Amino acid sequence: MHVIIRQYEEECGVTVADIVDRAVRSGPATLGLATGSSPLSVYRELIRRHREDGLSFADAQAFLLDEYVGLPPSHPQSYANVIRAEFTAHVDIDDDRVYGPDGVGDDIATAATEYDVLLAESGPVDVQLLGIGANGHLGFNEPGSSLGSRTRVATLTEQTRTDNARFFDGVDDVPRHVITQGLGTIGAARHLVLIATGEHKAAAVAAAVEGPVTASCPASVLQLHPHVTMVVDEAAAARLEDADFYRYAMRHPAPLHG
Ligand code: GLP
Repeated sequence: MHVIIRQYEEECGVTVADIVDRAVRSGPATLGLATGSSPLSVYRELIRRHREDGLSFADAQAFLLDEYVGLPPSHPQSYANVIRAEFTAHVDIDDDRVYGPDGVGDDIATAATEYDVLLAESGPVDVQLLGIGANGHLGFNEPGSSLGSRTRVATLTEQTRTDNARFFDGVDDVPRHVITQGLGTIGAARHLVLIATGEHKAAAVAAAVEGPVTASCPASVLQLHPHVTMVVDEAAAARLEDADFYRYAMRHPAPLHG
């Protein structure tokens, strides 16, 4: 796992945007997009590069991590709408090639399975953006999620509903159920890139990077993946015991060849 510590959130966004930029410029890319506050600095930087530096997403396709059950794509807080508003509407990606789980159909359990199959057939995802919940969740895989789980309908913890209430009129409006890519589904991506900022993420980041691999901290499954980059600001890095070594490794990166 490669841990990159930056001082500020916007610097984290630029670092992650560099990774996406490289993938998109090197051929038709399959991107995994996350919602929530954490990737917003990444999307701002990618939109800027699209407008000012000619970064084109015309050959890319994208898959969302998760979706609320019961919110149609027209709902302001559906993740289908959020990703459009925060990112995809501002770049030249084809709207029909931005896929997400269907949270409003008659049979959402089957829709979840079909989304998993679609991802497997269209993937692998080249770069998967991830945030982390304060309880260590990835996507909407709450503590207790099987480390090999697939895309499915899941129940949110009250903590996550409370954390996400800021996007709604109140906690009562936050759906209790979601469709989320499973941890096994997420792990099929070639490169997992997690961004975390702020001291409220420090405990989850430390558990994910340095704690035991356990379903109690779903993000700890990242330790089993061959290519993970964790980009954190100083506040989110505050509880990492080996932060000095991660900084040292940043100054002395392992040579790629020879
Ligand atoms: C949300 C999303 C996750 C996100 C996490 C953190 O509920 N489902 O994909 O990473 O919680 O959110 P934020 O980045 O707003 O802190």
